[in-house]
Amino acid sequence: MTTPVLEARDVTMRFGGLTAVRSVDFTVNAGEIVGLIGPNGAGKTTFFNCLTGLYVPTEGTVSYKGTVLPPKPHLVTQAGIARTFQNIRLFANMTVLENVLVGRHTRTKEGLWSALLRGPGFKKAERASEERAMELLEFIGLAHKRDHLARNLPYGEQRKLEIARALASEPGLLLLDEPTAGMNPQETRATEELVFAIRDKGVAVLLIEHDMRFVFNLSDRVAVLVQGEKLVEGTSDVVQADERVIAAYLGEPFEGDPGQAEAAEVEAAEAAAGAAADAPGTASSTKGEAQ
Ligand SMILES: Nc1ncnc2c1ncn2[C@@H]1O[C@H](COP(=O)(O)OP(=O)(O)OP(=O)(O)O)[C@@H](O)[C@H]1O
Ligand SMILES: [Mg+2]
Repeated sequence: MTTPVLEARDVTMRFGGLTAVRSVDFTVNAGEIVGLIGPNGAGKTTFFNCLTGLYVPTEGTVSYKGTVLPPKPHLVTQAGIARTFQNIRLFANMTVLENVLVGRHTRTKEGLWSALLRGPGFKKAERASEERAMELLEFIGLAHKRDHLARNLPYGEQRKLEIARALASEPGLLLLDEPTAGMNPQETRATEELVFAIRDKGVAVLLIEHDMRFVFNLSDRVAVLVQGEKLVEGTSDVVQADERVIAAYLGEPFEGDPGQAEAAEVEAAEAAAGAAADAPGTASSTKGEAQ
């Protein structure tokens, strides 16, 4: 029995003449990790922005646990969807702990300014909030840096802190936009473990990633967006084996593609040029044959 957490129906986003997302239907179920992949400019981030109320989709609806979401970021966060950004957005001159506390303001009555200015209402809620924030920092492995300024953290740790801040709003669904961008292999591996741990806490995860090993290892399901359209969706095995996906990434022709003869010609010419380079003495004659 699967329970949908997120349901996007027929979502289209146009910018003037450009259709960045076209009629996308998309579901994330409770307990799932879903990957969203696609070449640069495919519309992945735009789709996230439609899901989180940053953009008002030209057409279509987004529902969270059966209720249609108003396209307003703070209401989407309040409903239970949290996200990180492709370009890290932290408060650079706040400490690690403060950044997580900011993430909690949607879940505390006191609100953002009270939390930051340490207003009267804040004192009471302060202890509980800080305890929860520290729990999260321990969970992601940054508790020892609670008083460091966010801008002084190495890049990989800034990405982790963004995840902690997102988790601070106690979401039921977490959207990650390229969580491993700029990470070294060890950090990427650790992030993989972290995403599994988040899912095990009962938070569904939808992630955009260009690191294929990462996304195929993690995801129960993967959807492929190409030029704004959902081209393929399925398990990692199914998606990896689909030649349309490989073609979309490599720009390789399909069988029967009219460009295929031309591509074969270029390949033959390149092979001949390679052979020529191996045997410099016969270079000019080999090249002549290939042309
Ligand atoms: N605010 C905007 N106004 C106009 N065009 C936009 C806007 N945001 C995105 N686009 C265009 O929409 C298309 C999809 O962009 P998007 O950033 O969603 O791609 P992406 O799949 O996230 O790519 P990448 O993997 O490089 O992050 C691109 O052609 C982009 O230029
Ligand atoms: Mg993007």
